[in-house]
Amino acid sequence: MSRKKKIVENVVLTGIADRGKAVGRDAEGIVYFVPDAVPGDIVNILRLKKKRGVYQGSVTEFVEYSKDRIEPKCQHFGVCGGCKWQNLDYPKQLEHKTQTVHDAMRRIAKIDTSIISPIIGSSKIFEYRNKIEYSFSNKRWLTREEIDQGDAIKQSPAAGFHRAGAFEKVVDIEQCHLQENTTNRIRNFFKALCYKEQWDFYDAKARTGFIRSMFLRNSPEGKWMINVVFKHKNEGAYKVALDALIEEFPEISSLYYMINDKQNDSVFDLEAQHYHGEKYLEISLGHITYKIGPKSFFQTNSSQAKVLFDQIKNLANLKGTENVYDLYAGIGSIGFYLANQAKQIVGIEEIPEAIQDAKLNAAENGIENTIFYAGDVKNILTNEFAQKHGKPDLVITDPPRAGMHKDLVYMLLRLESPRIIYVSCNPATQARDLQLLNEKYVVEKMQPVDMFPHTHHIENIALLSLRHE
Ligand SMILES: C[S@@+](CC[C@H](N)C(=O)[O-])C[C@H]1O[C@@H](n2cnc3c(N)ncnc32)[C@H](O)[C@@H]1O
Repeated sequence: MSRKKKIVENVVLTGIADRGKAVGRDAEGIVYFVPDAVPGDIVNILRLKKKRGVYQGSVTEFVEYSKDRIEPKCQHFGVCGGCKWQNLDYPKQLEHKTQTVHDAMRRIAKIDTSIISPIIGSSKIFEYRNKIEYSFSNKRWLTREEIDQGDAIKQSPAAGFHRAGAFEKVVDIEQCHLQENTTNRIRNFFKALCYKEQWDFYDAKARTGFIRSMFLRNSPEGKWMINVVFKHKNEGAYKVALDALIEEFPEISSLYYMINDKQNDSVFDLEAQHYHGEKYLEISLGHITYKIGPKSFFQTNSSQAKVLFDQIKNLANLKGTENVYDLYAGIGSIGFYLANQAKQIVGIEEIPEAIQDAKLNAAENGIENTIFYAGDVKNILTNEFAQKHGKPDLVITDPPRAGMHKDLVYMLLRLESPRIIYVSCNPATQARDLQLLNEKYVVEKMQPVDMFPHTHHIENIALLSLRHE
């Protein structure tokens, strides 16, 4: 049975949804998620299937363009998919992000949204990232125009970003504005070197090729840490590649490589081989200098990370007597920032190398009141653990996008810390967890912070206090 395609007219887009889609309603109030449009646009759409209960739409015609549209800076805008909101004025991006937090908290957490402060914008809206990963693929993502040219275009290798939904394909990037421009010089130099040496880029389907990816990290002082991921150790070639980078870029202060022969791209289970220079990259935030290893998580927008940590510090309002648990601690960044105002910081993080870095950072910064454990937080944080380290006065939890594991939420409910600060990079999963925590906690304050201009990502801090019954 063939279903007739339905065109819905005059859908007024009013907000942003997850993954860079705009959200709007038709005349009957039916909600649609629409890609490649911005709030304020009025569009005719082809109605597509529902995803998670909401109709998806594809624009067939722009009836009216939003007055909040601006010219995107990037030549790859619309193809790359990384900065979906670059064509929306930054103050408007912030307004919509604040609204997204309100919506998640009202609908999912069911809390009083008057406690949500407006989002704090990023002082830098370009070149704000201190870390980027580029992928190398023998399958370049082709645009619709290129495909329409037919035989004239040939499949060619690419160095850039994976295209969402087409995993083996990579959008070839000439210039990315998210990291300081040296990022482009290094990637483009390396790509040209690979062409010259005839080294194959990775083919994710056939699992062949030599060059897989490259991680670039930089400090505000202009030092760079590079980690090149090869598929296998081609003895002669990998050294030629790494030596050429060192020779061309004196700003590379630290160079690593990894061998990844697995199907997946994750590098957390791979050994980072130190090849040249310093083992760590240093980034200072306020009174703490962090030494960051090649596999450690560190907040990606350095200047905004200080803003985030200052907000956490203000909400924590420590007196110097408190026992603080820092869950999902990474290299202990948040704990160190607060350590001089607490009696003790107890950090838990699953990546062992990050814990090694945390211990090193404690020593380097002369911090003596921290203790760190490596492992899954839901397994480490038990009643016995709390007995051993003392009941917390404050728990700081900063999980990845998936939010906290349910078992951990239940453990926090049993632990009954008087206060919790929940730092999240996904308000939807945060709202889900807050709804569970609502059994014993009230959300006192909420402060969204924009760490990632032009993207759909939102960082949000919630301060919770234990209800006294
Ligand atoms: C959003 S980052 C926060 C890191 C740190 N709080 C900071 O601000 O730099 C989340 C961290 O949680 C860690 N992680 C993820 N799942 C975990 C788990 N089940 N148990 C412990 N740590 C985990 C990740 O390795 C990562 O370092």
